[in-house]
Amino acid sequence: MWGGRFAEGPSAIMREINASIPFDKALWRQDIAASKAHVAMLGQQGIVSAADAQTISEGLDRVAAEYEANGVPEDWDLEDIHMTTESRLAELIGPVAGRLHTARSRNDQVATDFRLWVRDAIDQTDAGLAQLQRALVDRAGEHAGSIMPGFTHLQTAQPVTLGHHLMAYYEMIRRDRSRFRDARARLNESPLGSAALAGTGFPIDRDQTARALEFDRPTANSLDAVSDRDFALDYLQAAAQCSLHLSRLAEEFVIWASQPFGFVRLPDALSTGSSIMPQKKNPDAAELVRGHSGRIVGAAVSLMVTMKGLPLAYSKDMQDDKPPVFEAAGLLGLSIAAMTGMVADAAFRTDRMRAAAELGYATATDLADWLVRQADIPFREAHHITGAAVRLAESKGVALDALSPEELQNIDSRIDERVYTALSVEASVAARSSHGGTAPDQVRQRVAEANKALGA
Ligand code: ARG
Repeated sequence: MWGGRFAEGPSAIMREINASIPFDKALWRQDIAASKAHVAMLGQQGIVSAADAQTISEGLDRVAAEYEANGVPEDWDLEDIHMTTESRLAELIGPVAGRLHTARSRNDQVATDFRLWVRDAIDQTDAGLAQLQRALVDRAGEHAGSIMPGFTHLQTAQPVTLGHHLMAYYEMIRRDRSRFRDARARLNESPLGSAALAGTGFPIDRDQTARALEFDRPTANSLDAVSDRDFALDYLQAAAQCSLHLSRLAEEFVIWASQPFGFVRLPDALSTGSSIMPQKKNPDAAELVRGHSGRIVGAAVSLMVTMKGLPLAYSKDMQDDKPPVFEAAGLLGLSIAAMTGMVADAAFRTDRMRAAAELGYATATDLADWLVRQADIPFREAHHITGAAVRLAESKGVALDALSPEELQNIDSRIDERVYTALSVEASVAARSSHGGTAPDQVRQRVAEANKALGA
């Protein structure tokens, strides 16, 4: 493509280090779409003749049909998807193909293609996350009243409902989706027509190409347009945050599926066995979601470091922007699908959850609250009295509500028999009816709101 300037061809090493076609062939649909928008505009503006524009456009359709049927050929000499397509176009339609590259550069071309690709990735991610939310909300509705231990420090803290626990992840995913939406809105400007870095002297119509590619408007500064990749970083950072949420949810399943917990039976379809221990059913899918989050976070870090020292405008370092984005998008899509299946098809063992909630003095706070409300004792003192009751129950190896009225009165004479109604796990969760609390009625309200938001 630049034979005029060079006496010798590139060395084998130069060819190999330079070639991006092994990965950027993933951009072929976007590259064809952007070229078609560009050549239609060139024709419209009289920069190329209407007949040439049509010949080129039809040629691009033929190249696309070939890619669709046989894949994109990988010839390192052609470097990247842009030159691969242009060279095939020239083979198909002859020298008129050379007019396509008027008033543009690979710099605005790749920036345009990559924005289109990331925009599609965001749309697919959003659709996947909506399905995960659907599964979370359905299971939460089913288990609005199922009692489990709530933890802090992974120590039994207070009883909660499984529905409440699942809806916590619904909220995280809701915020993730809004981050992707923000990224999409900022991304949706067209770099096409920025040319190499400074714009062009040809009378192009950037609004037309922007519209044709469903961008909201053309970018405002050509240097910025060809050289920033913050749109890809916005996507990767949103993906990293989302993958952290998925990883935490996966970790819950790993813990819940372990035998000492026994809170859940994982779907067979998302588990594996062991080649040596016949009894094993391993939560591999959940573990891989947890593992993949490391790679997705790594992708975000990788592109940040690639970009940090680059002067304006384009530098070839930026060719390395694509592998981390492609990798993260693939891993994130799989992770979302795996967690959707896990949530939808897990068999929750509510009997085991309830039994666990009754262990560990999870209603101790309820005893303290009862002392505050019924006996008008300051909370700090009530906390102290309750501590003594827990110590006695622990020394006897029984639950709080297995202590006799006399034993409780020995600890503090202001305690009477009415206290037992507060000590059950049902009473405990029902009492936590503050906005956003774990009471089944609250959970049902949140589920109803979520169903509305999801359009159910
Ligand atoms: N393959 C290149 C990339 O992905 C396309 C842009 C090349 N531009 C250039 N001036 N060499 O970044």
